[in-house]
Amino acid sequence: MARITAGVTTSHVPAIGAAIDLGKMQDPYWAPLFEGYEFSKQWIKDNPPDVVFLVYNDHASAFGMELIPTFAIGCGEEYPPADEGWGPRPVPNVIGHPGLGWHIRQSLAEDDFDLTIVNEMAVDHGLTVPLSLMFGQPDAWPCKIIPFAVNVIFYPPPSGRRCFNLGKAIRRAVESFDEDLNVQVWGTGGMSHQLQGPRAGLINKEFDNDYLDRLVTDPEGLAAIPHLDYLRDAGSEGIELVMWLIMRGALNTDVRQVHRFYHVPASNTAVGHLILENT
Ligand code: DHB
Ligand code: FE
Repeated sequence: MARITAGVTTSHVPAIGAAIDLGKMQDPYWAPLFEGYEFSKQWIKDNPPDVVFLVYNDHASAFGMELIPTFAIGCGEEYPPADEGWGPRPVPNVIGHPGLGWHIRQSLAEDDFDLTIVNEMAVDHGLTVPLSLMFGQPDAWPCKIIPFAVNVIFYPPPSGRRCFNLGKAIRRAVESFDEDLNVQVWGTGGMSHQLQGPRAGLINKEFDNDYLDRLVTDPEGLAAIPHLDYLRDAGSEGIELVMWLIMRGALNTDVRQVHRFYHVPASNTAVGHLILENT
C-alpha cells in the first residue's frame, strides 16, 4: 500500500526562484537563505519520495477572479511552469500521478471533502519554488507530483481546522491506495508577510517561531487559530500558513523533526522550513 513517510513545509517567494534561475545563490543577500536548504537537499536524496502531494497556492496564474476553487486537486498528466510576467521559469514540467490523484479525489468525496478536479493548468512560484529549494536544478523533477491548490488569495480562505481535518482525510486516502508508494506531503507558503497596504513589510518572528514549535507539538491547538489572528499577527499573506496544517494533518500525532530553519527576510517574507518524519 502507499504510505506517507514525511512532511515538508517551506515558504515560497518569487524572488527565490529568480535568484536560483539567475545564478545569484552565492550573493551575500541570498547565501544565508540557501544555506538553510543544504541539509534538505541531502535529506531528500537520502529519502527519495515516489510522489509528492504538494499543497500550495496559486497567485492568480491558473485561477483568477472568474474561477476560485477553495481546494483543487491536479489529476492530470503534466503541468508546465506559469508565465508570471517574465516568461515561465526555466524549470522542468511537473509530471503528475493521475492514478493516485483520482483515487484521492474518490476517497475524499466519500470522506465529505468535495474537491475541484484540474486536469490542465500552469503552476506558479507557489509550487515551483519549493521544488527548486528541495531538489535544486535537475533536468527533470525526480518524482511524480500531485499539485493541490488552496485558495488563500481571495477571502474567505478555508479555516485552519478544515485544513487540518483535510490532511487527515488525505492520509486515509493515500493509505488505501493499492500500490507500494513512498509519499511525502508538503505544505508550502507563509510565514509572516504582508505585501500591501499600510502594514506592508510586516514580519513577526515571535509568531512564526511559536508556529514552528506548535506545528510539531500542538497542531490541534494551532488548527483552532481563527483567520483574524493570522491577519493581525502574521500579515495579510501570512494566511498562507493554513496550508501547513494540511501537511501536518496527514502525518502521525508524534513526528520526528529532522530539520528546522528560519530566515528573515527573503524579499518581503519570513522564510520558515521544517522536515518532519513519521515515527
Ligand atoms: C512575496 C511573497 C509571496 O508569498 C508571494 O506570493 C509573492 C511575493 C514576497 O515576499 O516578495
Ligand atoms: Fe505567496
